Amino acid sequence: MEIKVTKTANPKPIPQDESTLGFGLKFTDHMFLMDWYDDKGWTDARIVPYGPIEIDPASTVLHYALEIFEGLKAYRTAEGKIQLFRPYENAKRFNRSAARFSMPEIPEEDFVQAVKALVDVDSEWVPKGFGTSLYIRPFMFADMIDLALHYVKHYRFIIIVSPSGSYYSEGLNPVKIMIEDEDVRAVRGGTGFTKCGGNYAASQRAGDRAMAKGYSQVLWLDGVERKYIEEVGAMNIMFKIDGVVVTPSTAEGSILQGITRKSILELLRHKGIPCEERKVSVDELMDAARTGRLEEAFGCGTAAVISPVGVLAYKDEVYDINGGKIGETSQMLYDTLTGIQWGKLEDEMGWVVPVK
Ligand code: PLP
Ligand code: COI
Repeated sequence: MEIKVTKTANPKPIPQDESTLGFGLKFTDHMFLMDWYDDKGWTDARIVPYGPIEIDPASTVLHYALEIFEGLKAYRTAEGKIQLFRPYENAKRFNRSAARFSMPEIPEEDFVQAVKALVDVDSEWVPKGFGTSLYIRPFMFADMIDLALHYVKHYRFIIIVSPSGSYYSEGLNPVKIMIEDEDVRAVRGGTGFTKCGGNYAASQRAGDRAMAKGYSQVLWLDGVERKYIEEVGAMNIMFKIDGVVVTPSTAEGSILQGITRKSILELLRHKGIPCEERKVSVDELMDAARTGRLEEAFGCGTAAVISPVGVLAYKDEVYDINGGKIGETSQMLYDTLTGIQWGKLEDEMGWVVPVK
């Protein structure tokens, strides 16, 4: 794919104090764009100065929410190299999301090439501190000027990048999570397995209610019986119960197939640590918490990395997990995963892809 690059004439100052980056708040000097037309396919791949985009008020996405996205990161190693973590997994998942919405797919090589090209142009923006990274947000939306529900003839694909620190202000300190028993996020046959904006829109109300009660996010239950654990608002969930790491199976299609989740399962199997992907009922979880067998709980995701859960609430029961401290398996997984991502540990699994 040929990418036309137009550099900005007015570069912004690069944030020097990395401790105040937060997550997804600041954006670099450039962005990647390309367009899809039903008669031409993908066209006009370009990197241009970052800035507002024009959108018609009748555009499909503003009314019918036809939008999908991805999330990955570029990491700077101590030697100053810049690397990505499993970007082809993001490209594949993007296309699984696209297929669910009848959106055009992007060849995996083009997706990764676009990510690499943008990160390379803005490489000075990749922060230096351990734990900081350049968060990469590719997204695609339908852009027809037509309020009828028609076949969509124009899509736009954009990538923006943001120098970021921790997703949660708690960092690696445990977060408080509340099990949601009223709203549901996804149903079988729906869009739960995709990264579409609509999933997050449907989650907003429960998230806001949880925050008002002092919790960081909600843990979703299945949409049919409200009996089985699914995932958290922005991460997959894992539990260590009786020495075994257990995570909900994604087979029903209502849970996002997280790349961090997949990597953790591969690491655990590689290290010979017992782990299971299966249905986990809220009753089993609460019983384990009540009887002291719930040794650890943690969320995992690109933005969240490994996020220990220190408090779990369901209806009127509230439990502290591992005395509100990070558990040894969570810490080991955090150290291994971040060690590979920031190039401190050897990449035995072959997950890292250099930008150049
Ligand atoms: N589940 C949800 C709902 C998410 O938004 C994310 C974040 O992307 C994840 C899980 C974790 O996925 P990944 O590890 O691929 O970032
Ligand atoms: C990510 O971890 O990349 C995500 O997309 C989570 C997002 C909701 C902040």
